[in-house]
Amino acid sequence: MKYDARDLGLADKGREKIEWADESMPVLKMIRERFETEKPLEGIRIACCLHVTTETANLARTLKAGGAEVALCASNPLSTQDEVVASLVKDYGISVFAVRGEDNDTYYKHINSALDIEPQITMDDGADLVSTVHKDRRDLLKNVIGGSEETTTGVIRLKAMQEHGVLEHPMIAVNDAMTKHFFDNRYGTGQSTIDGVIRATNILFAGARVVIFGYGWCGRGTAMRARGMGGNVIVVEIDPVKALEAVMDGFTVMGSLEAARVGDIFITLTGNISVIRKEHFDLMKDGAIVANSGHFNVEIDIPDLEKVAKNKKHIRSEIDQYTLPGGNRINVLAEGRLINLAAAEGHPASVMDMSFANQSLSAEYLIKGGVKLENKVYPVPEHIDREIARLKLDALGCKVDDLTGKQKEYLESWELGT
Ligand code: ADE
Repeated sequence: MKYDARDLGLADKGREKIEWADESMPVLKMIRERFETEKPLEGIRIACCLHVTTETANLARTLKAGGAEVALCASNPLSTQDEVVASLVKDYGISVFAVRGEDNDTYYKHINSALDIEPQITMDDGADLVSTVHKDRRDLLKNVIGGSEETTTGVIRLKAMQEHGVLEHPMIAVNDAMTKHFFDNRYGTGQSTIDGVIRATNILFAGARVVIFGYGWCGRGTAMRARGMGGNVIVVEIDPVKALEAVMDGFTVMGSLEAARVGDIFITLTGNISVIRKEHFDLMKDGAIVANSGHFNVEIDIPDLEKVAKNKKHIRSEIDQYTLPGGNRINVLAEGRLINLAAAEGHPASVMDMSFANQSLSAEYLIKGGVKLENKVYPVPEHIDREIARLKLDALGCKVDDLTGKQKEYLESWELGT
């Protein structure tokens, strides 16, 4: 079995953490047990490019239990948990190519190593596998039945591929499932982003002015949790409807330049490029803290900062402090990479349970869906999405009510009015 790991000696520690996470992933565990008997993925080769965490390890175990051969690489150079890689290789016999802190060349070498299994299914978080196959490994396209995508940024890339007519196989947008983005993007990102900022800085949120860029599901969750910690939250948005929603959720909404002057902590969650740039750095207070929780490390324009700063100092394990010509210091966390995975452990297992249940069942659907899919981006079928919600509720010991006959009839009728 091929792999690239930092140190297989870390396997015992990794296995304990994987098992700990598994305790909070009851839906995935149920799927794994069914997969073990039914083997819906027998003989299927799956390449996964995901954050290599304890939760992802339990997904990889599930796919393997279903009969798949799995090769896993990282979807971000800084999110890999090396002990998880070690355990996956040593204890679970899964090929993993990931080393925390790998450089860009190694990152792409690892993507290509995972692709060397000649996948029939690709599973992405950010669409790097799909784009590499379409750009550099087109020989592999003939084997690919379809793929699935975990995150908003990846779905945007895939839809752009569809628009340009270059997507050569069907894709399932796992991100867009209700049981994914309502929970993972909102509660998962909300908690893990604050966790990352705190682990990196040990800063007190109470009384701090926290500027959230982007009021999508991730921004909403992070704004909500920052307020819960006592922060004075300011939202910066470009979409008038989302901005209005932020106002009515009780947040202060400002333009980015105005916010740059007053903020203490800045967090980007937009999926866009150069969201915080020179014109903002120039206005920030001395000691401002700047972090990104969007998928790619392009939201904070670090090249801008590198150009203007007269000094850069690495002052804590996840903080680079840049001193501007006027003397103000800007603290950039985790090199602008997604703070929740670079400085903390990503979303808690309980929420990844649903995201990865969607991934597992989407793989099964691609293999035996019985529907002819075109080369387009598809949602997770609604019956799968709702079933995951039902299973999660069961696991949480919560019941939902049923409609009475009279209520069903009422909902189906149009004659009854006032
Ligand atoms: N994305 C966000 N949090 C994650 C986690 N814990 N594992 C895998 N992918 C993630």
